[in-house]
Order: sequence, then structure tokens, then C-alpha cells
Amino acid sequence: MKVGKILIKEDEIRKRVTELGDEISRDYRDKTPTLVSILKGGIIFLSDLVRSLSILHEMDFMSVSSYNGGTESSGVVRILADLSINIEGRDVIIVEDIVDTGLTLDYIRHILLARHPKSLRICTLLDKKARRRVDVPLDYVGFEIPDAFVIGYGLDYGEKYRHLPYIAILEPDD
Ligand code: PRP
Repeated sequence: MKVGKILIKEDEIRKRVTELGDEISRDYRDKTPTLVSILKGGIIFLSDLVRSLSILHEMDFMSVSSYNGGTESSGVVRILADLSINIEGRDVIIVEDIVDTGLTLDYIRHILLARHPKSLRICTLLDKKARRRVDVPLDYVGFEIPDAFVIGYGLDYGEKYRHLPYIAILEPDD
């Protein structure tokens, strides 16, 4: 497999991430939200997003996996590493790279809600609506994308391509 057509260019991502940062900064003006990044894919987005925030905030990480290196969600979500802080009474924002079937976020959302945060919102860079199997409320969405397997900007194929500064479509070799 190889890097195919570029779907979202680097400067388009930069502009949109800045807009999302501004929007979150406005919405959480008098608050100090906890941004929860879902590893590994969410890390690149989170690191750019926090640098466009103008409010105080905290970061924490959770590691889950549902794809096991392939291109299809297994439907079984595994927690590989949990949060390090107690989110009870906190304003939590889950930061994801992509919502595909929604199974991963639905699972994480319910786990976090059971810990009684003051509020819980979801921010995703990419929304692949066509593949949704569970309805998950998305509060901040960077881009809606078509039903194609995408790589780059945190998204991998077999752990590779996460470093690409743009979002591209994964294509078969010639
Ligand atoms: C990807 C992505 C989301 C999830 C979305 O993670 O980061 O967490 O899949 O898919 P879904 O909506 O169909 O559940 P993955 O399991 O590939 O792990 P990774 O972030 O470490 O690459």
C-alpha cells in the first residue's frame, strides 16, 4: 500500500485547527478544561490544538485500540492505558483524530461519563459519517471526509504514515 491522493493539505489543517482552538477558547473562557487525547492517533492533533488555545487547560492521555493494525474496526475496544488524573467534576474534552464507526468513542464516552465529569464534549479532526454504526454526539468537528481509508497527521496504516503533515488516501501499489 502507498500514499495516494492528498485529501486535506497541511495549510488547510493548520487553518481549521486554529479555528477549533479559537472556538474552544471562547466556549471555555472561564474554565480550565481537561483535554483527553486518545492515543496514538490523537496525539498530533492534540499537540497542534493546544497551541492554538488561549485558555488554561490540562492534558491527559488514554490508549485504546480497536483496529489491531488493519483497515477495519474489530468492534472490540481494548483499553491499553488509562487516564492518570481523576476527572470527577472536571470539564473534559475528548480529542480524537477520527470518528469512523463510532465504536471507540462510544465506549470511551461511557467509561468517562461514569466517572462523573462536570461536562464532557468531543472534538474530532475527522468525521467519516458514512461508516457510523453508533450515534456519538460530536461537539467540534474539523472536517467531514468520504468513506476512504486515510493516513497522515496521526492516522496510521500498520503504525506507519502518522508523521505525514497532511491527510492522504491509502492506495494499493501499482
Ligand atoms: C482509530 C482512531 C479512533 C478509532 C476510530 O484508532 O484513532 O480512535 O480508530 O474508529 P471507530 O470510530 O471505527 O471506532 P486505532 O484503533 O486505529 O488506534 P491508533 O489511534 O493507535 O491508531
